[in-house]
Order: sequence, then structure tokens, then C-alpha cells
Amino acid sequence: MSEANRIPRHVAMIMDGNGRWAEQRGMPRHEGHAAGIEPIRASLRAAVRHGVEYLTLYAFSTENWGRPAEEVDALMELFCQCVIHETPELQRQGIRIRMIGDRTRFSDKVRAYLAQAEELTAAGDRLTLVLAFDYSSRDEIVRAVRKLTARVAAGDLAPEAIDEAAFSAALDTAEFPDPDLVIRTSGEQRLSNFLLWQASYAELCFPQVLWPDFTEEEFDRAIDEYARRERRFGRIE
Ligand code: FPP
Repeated sequence: MSEANRIPRHVAMIMDGNGRWAEQRGMPRHEGHAAGIEPIRASLRAAVRHGVEYLTLYAFSTENWGRPAEEVDALMELFCQCVIHETPELQRQGIRIRMIGDRTRFSDKVRAYLAQAEELTAAGDRLTLVLAFDYSSRDEIVRAVRKLTARVAAGDLAPEAIDEAAFSAALDTAEFPDPDLVIRTSGEQRLSNFLLWQASYAELCFPQVLWPDFTEEEFDRAIDEYARRERRFGRIE
């Protein structure tokens, strides 16, 4: 593996363990989510330092709508506050925000904040921060199938023209490379409906720490672990 390949171009993160972190301290769960903001800043600093080009964060899954209303409301409020407060700093650092997921179920307020954050940071060319909001991989795949079949029905696309590249291009992630490294905190070893198509050849890393305790050093350790792995993509080399 060449030196350049030792740095993943795209890192995707499942930020797990906020609830447990709060419960261990006798705090309400939303305090755990609030404590999850600093590790995002730390990951961004580390990603920029390593020259990672894309950082995707699983911020709200389609299944998260099933949590108690007060937790969902607290998460939405946190996203809005975070987007308002952090956008100027992201702009300054050349970080571009992009969203993946189904935005149709958010309130007008949340949708407007998310769109504004994308617009204000559009010129950022140092790193792309991809926020997966109301995202699940199966939902994304179903939406992609609907897009493609609608084009087939309209006579716009021949079924034989649907290959892996055409399918990838119909996903929310069309403009991004596949993740090279997926990190899930809290010791759970699952993908939980996150980037299932895109992570086909990703290296997986499962640090034991809960997300609020994730630091720049933890990010560095995951990059080191990635660098030691031998990636073969099904080939013999
Ligand atoms: C999983 O922990 C975490 C979430 C469902 C939310 C993650 C969101 C943040 C850290 C805030 C992000 C904000 C922005 C703007 C990106 P969990 O609640 O499932 O933890 P548990 O497994 O211990 O219960």
C-alpha cells in the first residue's frame, strides 16, 4: 500500500453511546447528546489535520423518530443551535456541509436551517462534512429504486443501463466517494442501516469509548489502525 493510501479519503462515523454516557451520570439522555458536540469538533480537527477529504456523521437515523417525543425534540433543537453557532467557524475553516437522508419529515424550521448551512458553506474546499439526517440505508436504497424505475417507466432509461455506477448515482451519496473507514463508538459492532451499499469494502473500527468521550487521540488511533490493515477489495495482490 502506498503512503497516500494510508490516510482514508472518506471516514464515516456512527456516534453511539450518548444515552449510556448520560445514564451513567444520572443525567437525562439529551445531556448526553449535548455532550456529543465537542467530539464532533475534535473529529473535524483531526480529520482536517490528517487530510481526510470527507467526514460523514450519522446524526439522526430514520429509526430515531421512534424515540420519545421529548428526546426527538431535544435532538432537533440541538441540531438547529449547533448549525447556527458552528456554521461561521466551519466557513472560516473551509468546511462544506452537505446532507444525506430524507428531509421531507423535518419541520420547516429545521429544513430551513439545514439548507442555510449548506448554502453558507458551499465554497468550502478543505473538507466535506456529510450529515446523515433522517437517514437509513434501506430507505435510501428504496428511494433510489423509485427514482430509477420512474425513469424506466417514462422511457428515459433502459433497464439494461442500470449497472452499479447508475445505481450509485441514484443514491443520496452520488457526489461522494465510498467510505474507506467506518468508525462506531461504544463497542457495539453493527452497521445499523448506515451506508450499507457504500461501505461494501470499508474497513470497520469499533473503539470502546462512548461517543461523548471520543477525542482527537481516539480518531488518530482509528487512522493508525486503518493504516495497518491490508485492503484487497476481493483481489489477491
Ligand atoms: C446515538 O447515541 C446518538 C444519536 C442518536 C444522536 C447523535 C447526535 C449528536 C451527537 C448531535 C449531533 C449534532 C449535529 C449538528 C451533527 P444513543 O442515544 O443511541 O446512545 P445509547 O446507545 O447509549 O442509548
